[in-house]
Amino acid sequence: MTPKVVAIVGATGLVGNRMLQMLEERDFPVKSIKFLASERSRGKTLTFRGETVEVEVLAEDSFKGVEIALFSAGGGTSKKFAPCAAKDGCVVIDNSSAWRMDPDVPLVVPEVNADDIKWHKGIIANPNCSTIQLVVVLKPIHDAAKIERVVVSTYQAVSGAGIKALQEMRDQIIAVLENREPVCKIFPHPIAFNCIPQIPQSDAFTANGYTSEEMKMVDETKKIMGDESIRVTATTVRVPVHTGHSESVNIETQHKLTAAKAREILSLAPGVVVLDDPANQIYPLACDAAGKGETFVGRIREDISQSRGLDLWIVADNLLKGAALNAVQIAELL
Ligand code: A2P
Repeated sequence: MTPKVVAIVGATGLVGNRMLQMLEERDFPVKSIKFLASERSRGKTLTFRGETVEVEVLAEDSFKGVEIALFSAGGGTSKKFAPCAAKDGCVVIDNSSAWRMDPDVPLVVPEVNADDIKWHKGIIANPNCSTIQLVVVLKPIHDAAKIERVVVSTYQAVSGAGIKALQEMRDQIIAVLENREPVCKIFPHPIAFNCIPQIPQSDAFTANGYTSEEMKMVDETKKIMGDESIRVTATTVRVPVHTGHSESVNIETQHKLTAAKAREILSLAPGVVVLDDPANQIYPLACDAAGKGETFVGRIREDISQSRGLDLWIVADNLLKGAALNAVQIAELL
């Protein structure tokens, strides 16, 4: 691949930082790099491959000469600036939810639907973090036994809500341990020593009682898998974990799949690592998955309540496979 002119929008954020790291670690051929963020970051510098690069303030004309832009600066920023970038001939890989369900925008997980990048018109969407790790595991099972229904409950890490949310969790943990009242600014309730069944933290609930995060999992799973017939229901929960989303997943398939066969299929699946030895207390853990690029699956068992059901426990780093790594893998496909 010829080296590319790359930009990271939201480079000062948690995901932006991991995007930079992934480009470095995966030896992505970069001709030059531009870091873009808000006015707040004016004057800041970041280091890329040993060189200091000044962060620029994002503007409509930031993308002249840029070939690939990785966006992770929130939906509003993507809505406004991704079309500017595309107009200037740049391909946008957008980590926000702004474009995901647009019929003209492919929603891509390279292990699942790499071919969909072929029909992009300047913007490619990176799916929701919880959806990515789910579909990486669902796809090989769907190919083998056709999935009819999925019931997923998530245990989502605080880093998914950004740097300020992590700071809030730290402050609250210290406050609780010191017998002080935890202060909530980002989250609607204390996240320290607690679980909050509401993601995102504001404007979460839709008319049907699901949160927007839950509806993202429902809608995005069908779009990525290319199968509107799969029935999906989700409950998304924020838990006081730094990094690494966990998911309890129940699947109903058209054809019976034994746990042993599912284990065999998943052990051959791209991007998936099976960690499933309950006798030795081996199963995926968020603290082990953090910092790794694979999606880990374990606790694979046949559902005793139905004849064609499986239960699984899926864990991945929400900032890497759930965001930055998936985006850089898409850039590699380009
Ligand atoms: P900044 O650091 O200048 O605020 P996180 O989700 O970890 O909080 O990161 C959000 C990222 O998105 C940061 O890099 C932040 O930049 C960037 N960002 C947020 N709003 C804007 C905006 N209006 N224009 C450009 N970058 C933005």
